[in-house]
Amino acid sequence: MSDLFDKIVSLSKRRGFIFQSSEIYGGLAATYDYGPLGVELKRNVTQRWWNSMVYQHHNVSGLDAAIMMHPTTWKASGHVDAFNDPLIDDKTSKKRYRADQLIEEYVERLRRKGKEEKADAVYERLVEALNADDMAGALYALIMEEEIRSPDSGVFDWTEVRQFNLMFDTHVGPVSNGENKIYLRPETAQGIFVNFHNVRETGRHQVPFGIAQIGKAFRNEIVARQFIFRMREFEQMEMQYFVKPGTQMEAFESWREKRMQWHIDNGVRPSKLRWHEHEKLAHYADAAFDIQYEFPIGWQEIEGIHSRTDFDLKAHQEHSGKKMEYFDPQTNEKYLPYVVETSAGLDRTVLTLLCEAYREEELDGDTRTLMKFHPKLAPITVALFPLVKKDGMPEIAHSIEEGLKEHFNAFYDEKGAIGRRYRRMDEVGTPFCITVDGESLEDQSVTIRDRDTMNQDRIPIDNVRTYLFDKIAGWKAE
Ligand code: GAP
Repeated sequence: MSDLFDKIVSLSKRRGFIFQSSEIYGGLAATYDYGPLGVELKRNVTQRWWNSMVYQHHNVSGLDAAIMMHPTTWKASGHVDAFNDPLIDDKTSKKRYRADQLIEEYVERLRRKGKEEKADAVYERLVEALNADDMAGALYALIMEEEIRSPDSGVFDWTEVRQFNLMFDTHVGPVSNGENKIYLRPETAQGIFVNFHNVRETGRHQVPFGIAQIGKAFRNEIVARQFIFRMREFEQMEMQYFVKPGTQMEAFESWREKRMQWHIDNGVRPSKLRWHEHEKLAHYADAAFDIQYEFPIGWQEIEGIHSRTDFDLKAHQEHSGKKMEYFDPQTNEKYLPYVVETSAGLDRTVLTLLCEAYREEELDGDTRTLMKFHPKLAPITVALFPLVKKDGMPEIAHSIEEGLKEHFNAFYDEKGAIGRRYRRMDEVGTPFCITVDGESLEDQSVTIRDRDTMNQDRIPIDNVRTYLFDKIAGWKAE
């Protein structure tokens, strides 16, 4: 991992954003817990997402479907048969790799060495292999031909490539046998599809309309070594937008634009975001783009926008025997709607914000670490400091805190030198620190320090709330 990534992981733990799950037992790989500040950041992200998807669109309704679903759901969706990763084992180190990623990394190495032509040729073969009927065999053949070595041991000693299903399964009821096997959902989307008619009827929606949902998903990821980037238990923020067949590309383009703008409005610099078009389309899609962010570990997907055709509704109609068609009152036609999906990873969005916010600045021979979160997303919006713990300053600070709590997450701290209190707030990304001092006692004014510029404004206590609202509204990412 890069130095920068290590610093972000370390700050996340030190300041209570993210902890390894079950740490006292040595941890559980690829699972993490959100601490007091992490959970605030995550909640702010979900609130912004819900607001922009549900409240800002009169024709989008919310849903919270169960994690456990009837097992036929996953047969219909194609996950039982096709939700596989092609895996290969290094026989010497016993480490397991995703065969396609091994080849992608080899292509990157060729590019870094300036062997562009060769890199292009191998990449073309990789795309062919991913689309081959015998994908595993084709990937294995390519690894053999190129003599791609294991990144960890440097040895060329591979097993064959095998397909490995990523779904976790469990059993309902007291006896475990094949008949009561169920799966932990690997995506939230299917909970939306099976509720298509329920939400449409109760929401009195006509096509086009959308259903939005935030929830946990589970995947038995094999290569899971990148902090909260790839986890086995994670959260998705998904929306399925049902449209008339033939109009899906218009909806696809419109949602692509909106979703990219949402990330930019979170304070992510546009130069750190890009589109990536899928070379190999998933079994359900007729077009697919990812939004990628430039993490310290490289460009990686944070959200997928997929045109899923009528694949899912058709499959559920076939497997359940229930009609999933829509009767269009405008045209008197019956059809299976097509679907445009926006599927964002909540944890990857949080990781994006942590990476984007992390800054180090040289200050008087010292390093100031600050998290430059958008003030709307910062875990703590405003800190209240009495300069000293006497003369009525704590009481004034507490009364300002009380007045702000309804609108902002406000934090009171009276311990330590004021400079150190500012630094602690910089490190967790608190955009505003209000200090009550001697002057406050005389003229009912306070100073408000800006995290980014470190400038301080002196303003009347009565104007604090309006001042904060104005500053938050005018904030721009740099
Ligand atoms: N319903 C479509 C779907 O699930 P996906 O591209 O497999 O599509 C969507 O996943 C998003 O979910 C990804 O862009 C990513 O942000 C997030 N995601 C997927 N697997 C993840 C994992 N193992 N850990 C964290 N986030 C993950």
